[in-house]
Amino acid sequence: MVVQTARPPESSTQPRYDVGGVLLERPFKIRRLGHFGVNVDRMEEAMHFYSDLLGFEISDQLDVGGRLTPEQRSQIGSLPTAGYFTRHGTDHHAFVVFPRTAFQVMRGEEPSQITINQITWQVGSLSEVVEGSRFFEERGISVSRSGRDTPGSNWHTYPFDPDGHTNELYYGIEQVGWNGYSKPRAMYNRGFRERPPLPQMSEFDEVQAAIAERIDLESGYRHVEANPRTFDVDGILLARPFKIVRIGPVRLFVQDVAAACAFYTSVMGLTETSTVQYRGHECVFMRVNTEHHSLALYPVALRKELGLSEHTTLMSFGVQVANYRQLRDAVGFLRDRGVEVRTLPPELSPGIDYSFLALDPEGHAIQLYYYMQQVPFSGSVTVADSTRLDAWPATVEARQDTFGGEPYLGPWG
Ligand SMILES: [Fe+2]
Repeated sequence: MVVQTARPPESSTQPRYDVGGVLLERPFKIRRLGHFGVNVDRMEEAMHFYSDLLGFEISDQLDVGGRLTPEQRSQIGSLPTAGYFTRHGTDHHAFVVFPRTAFQVMRGEEPSQITINQITWQVGSLSEVVEGSRFFEERGISVSRSGRDTPGSNWHTYPFDPDGHTNELYYGIEQVGWNGYSKPRAMYNRGFRERPPLPQMSEFDEVQAAIAERIDLESGYRHVEANPRTFDVDGILLARPFKIVRIGPVRLFVQDVAAACAFYTSVMGLTETSTVQYRGHECVFMRVNTEHHSLALYPVALRKELGLSEHTTLMSFGVQVANYRQLRDAVGFLRDRGVEVRTLPPELSPGIDYSFLALDPEGHAIQLYYYMQQVPFSGSVTVADSTRLDAWPATVEARQDTFGGEPYLGPWG
């Protein structure tokens, strides 16, 4: 909802939006990086790397083979048509690995260096997703689609950045609980291929309906770790000597750093934390919450200088392990299993002390680290006179940290 305010901010004549009673420059606020993904053709090797070695657990498989025409099938040949949703925690997916050529052929696209499947951001509510999709439309930002996908059950809208990377805003991703089952396919009847009308029924009522229909709630996918759990990882026996506890940052190579920076700050609402000049190249680091950066932009000219794979615009995808000892142990574990491991000049990774890159079978770099600097919010908080309930304002100004801190993960109900 666009609101007129008695005292617009002096620095801006832009409309402001009422987001849960807080006035913002856009009708949504990104709370965290929710998930990410890459497209590959060497699927089996890639899944060995991401699942067996890094520990992402499969939450669901999606095969697009049935959607292909006979001509498309012949173009794809023996390349894979199935992709995987994977998780490191309770979010249904934190990382997806999808078939590169099959997707490209299915969508009628030319081969390109965009092997990033999606860069996905969690916002605060379903209203924020819906109003966000209108916001992109009004500003002429290209959006591939809006709605709700299964597997994963998250409501979403997909804007493109200036380089053509698919971004996504979402709310309410399915949470996989202690028994490890994803939602059964029989519950996929509440998908949407367009912006949904509001309000929508709660997930609780969807589950009630499934129970009434006698759907077996344990008929969804359940990952079972194939490797022996023999590593004592800070007191728990696991299949590898480290545990991924958080995802991000995403680091991109872009054609025009200023244009990409403008998109991610003024359209998506990220905050610039710092810039680095490296051998004449300007690199920009941005955050959505208190982390030093969740997104970093580097000029594509730097890619070759750093000796990174020229098949992709992904510089690296970050995964945070639980502590420093686990990070050190991860180097040896991955190296011993044939993974190419390397480092970059540390000045390219401000806010992070120790980190290394592990290369996937197609050359995507995964940045493992354990520490990221947290950015304190500056300024003092003026205490409001909240004693007279009948005099509370209808809306309040956003503070720098109004939506800061750890967000709630799944659907609200
Ligand atoms: Fe997604």
